[in-house]
Amino acid sequence: MLVTQQPVLKRFWYPVIPVNHLQRGPKPFELLGQRIVLWLDQAGNPAAVEDRCCHRTAQLSKGCVVEGTIQCPYHGWQFDGSGACVKVPQLPADERIPGSYRVKAFQAQIRYDYVWVCLHDHPLQPIPDFPEAEDPGFRVIHHFYQRFPCSGLRMMENLLDNAHFSIVHTKTFGDTSNPIPPQMELEELEWGLRARTAIPATNPPLQQKNLGIFEEKTVRYTDATWFMPFVHRGRITYPNGLIAVLFMAATPINDRESQLVHFWIRSDREEDIPAAGIIEFNRMVVQEDEAILQTTDWDTPLSMDGEQHLAADKPGILMRRKLAALLKAYGETEQRRQA
Ligand code: FES
Ligand code: CO
Repeated sequence: MLVTQQPVLKRFWYPVIPVNHLQRGPKPFELLGQRIVLWLDQAGNPAAVEDRCCHRTAQLSKGCVVEGTIQCPYHGWQFDGSGACVKVPQLPADERIPGSYRVKAFQAQIRYDYVWVCLHDHPLQPIPDFPEAEDPGFRVIHHFYQRFPCSGLRMMENLLDNAHFSIVHTKTFGDTSNPIPPQMELEELEWGLRARTAIPATNPPLQQKNLGIFEEKTVRYTDATWFMPFVHRGRITYPNGLIAVLFMAATPINDRESQLVHFWIRSDREEDIPAAGIIEFNRMVVQEDEAILQTTDWDTPLSMDGEQHLAADKPGILMRRKLAALLKAYGETEQRRQA
């Protein structure tokens, strides 16, 4: 599926940039092939418009924020968050600015310390709910915000792929002595999938410290939800009562690349388990996945053409079926890379 060619994907919210990246000025982002510029207005609210001035097409993200508006670096026109041009330095103050002087604006809002953007006026679903992130009994540990040379769908499948842990995650948590994938209980949701499983995991010394569990092997009970199209929530309960919820999004940049947004929400405290060790361990896990995922075909076929399957691939197969049904419901056919 070529994500930039399937308009229905514009009807979802995606996390695009940490709010604090906008503290010192505007930033560009490419979402589903659409170049946008993001900034914070005077009230600290996020704004997102196309990153192309309607005058002579200069990139607005190279400009600066002036009184809550984005100022074009070429002739200084200023645009507000609705996309309207509110100042043209070349016009006398009493001359009306033509209504056609405007750029396309998109919805933007802040959630979980990220700016989320929807490229369509009518999103099909709200921003996915992570109640623990707003619960004072939990802490949020921001991990990674990086470009990933891989399709978002493969990144989502990978998280529910019980067949790869013992082969790929050999230095972190995979139990290399047991390649038989654990069973998974799957429940189809209207806008996603719920998957429950118990994964036998090994705990190298760093992970023992991170978990406060000093056993070499434990079982991770996971209750995960895939939110269509590219957000994953994975709630893990450990034998000592620790609850850790993984937030992972694969925001589609274009057909070949995704923006990884990855943080954990945990029920323990910094005084007991420092975040630095947790981040270090999870970086190793993510690098193990990245090394493999970047070698996969970036055009992931919803039709599953050219790929063979195992029973453990069921979650990914359901994801592809649900996305294919979504395209069909909105009158689209799957667009593929030209051979
Ligand atoms: Fe933006 Fe002229 S190109 S003001
Ligand atoms: Co993995």
